[in-house]
Amino acid sequence: MTKINKNYLELKDSYLFSTIATKVSEFKTKNPDKEIIRLGIGDVVLPLCSSVIDELKSAVDDMASDSTFKGYGPEQGYLFLKDSIKNYYKEFNVDLLSEEIFISDGAKSDLGNLLDIFSKDNVVVIPDPVYPVYVDTNIMDGRKINYVNGTFENGFLPMPTEDLEGDLIYICSPNNPTGATYNRSQLKEWVDFAIEKKSIILFDVAYEAFIYDDDIPHSIYEIEGAKKCAIEVCSLSKTAGFTGVRCGYTTVPLELECDNVSLNKLWLRRQTTKFNGVSYIVQKAASGVFSKEGRIKIKENIDYYMENAKIIGNALDELNIKYIGGKNSPYIWLQCPGNMSSWEFFDYLLEEVNIVGTPGVGFGENGEGYFRLTSFGHKENIIKAVERLKTLKF
Ligand code: MLT
Repeated sequence: MTKINKNYLELKDSYLFSTIATKVSEFKTKNPDKEIIRLGIGDVVLPLCSSVIDELKSAVDDMASDSTFKGYGPEQGYLFLKDSIKNYYKEFNVDLLSEEIFISDGAKSDLGNLLDIFSKDNVVVIPDPVYPVYVDTNIMDGRKINYVNGTFENGFLPMPTEDLEGDLIYICSPNNPTGATYNRSQLKEWVDFAIEKKSIILFDVAYEAFIYDDDIPHSIYEIEGAKKCAIEVCSLSKTAGFTGVRCGYTTVPLELECDNVSLNKLWLRRQTTKFNGVSYIVQKAASGVFSKEGRIKIKENIDYYMENAKIIGNALDELNIKYIGGKNSPYIWLQCPGNMSSWEFFDYLLEEVNIVGTPGVGFGENGEGYFRLTSFGHKENIIKAVERLKTLKF
């Protein structure tokens, strides 16, 4: 008889954002006239910039002509895009080789797929609260998880301790969901810890483009020793509005070894077997992100979202609600007012002012009593949302 992977039965019934989408659509069915403002899932609203659109169009034309048509591409990505990424990293004084960069369809899939190359016996260190994908993908494989606590007191930036055990360590900075960011010396501590314990860090920098402050690294490879202990995963979803286009990149340094085996080789072997690469059209579009005009336009879009974050932060200040984030990150992580639980606050906001956010507890036990708002929205909606928030009595 066929057997299922029983680890799946250990998962929560549905993925956090699917649960929220169901709740919101039930509310909408009962209240068709209410205008809902969605500040829940971190989904971009601004259209792709013109340099991306131009590349997309020219790539479509390429596919229409015998001389420029492309079939299968290199599974790990076209050189033209890898070269753009290499140049981008040079801005942070990080030198990468083309063979170290793997183009993907986004951070979420790579973060899950990377686990293929690691033993299910590995113990995993995951911060709480955290992006649910880290937890769920490890539950699917049946790995033991050691949580490290993020709290208001430590700024939701847990640090390693001597007694901490873990073979794989997840770090997300700027953090989803809290918006907290590790500075250079804090990341150095994690890198030193990983090297000492012979652990591997899976570093998620999906939000690096939102970093404004100089002392916050955009890449873990800015930290000495990181190429010996870290894989870095990035995405163009939030950087350039690619949530619907799908493109990201993962870096596995050539010098990175585990069990005396090159992880770059293992990942290449995994990808060439299970992945046929991102489409030529999408990779061309992604190259438009790194062009001179692309960089300027993308920065304007990020400034726009960060202005939204400021508007939300100012309103929370007025309401005397404590929060972090919203500075080098598009997420604002607030303490639910009136001692409400995360889901109570979710329901309260939805019913009273028709605003959707994300309950902090959906990101882990330490998120109970907290709530995440995203600054990805049109400015007029953000302004409307804060006006509605200000009508509430807590
Ligand atoms: C979020 O809202 O946390 C993100 O949009 C989810 C994701 O990037 O997969």
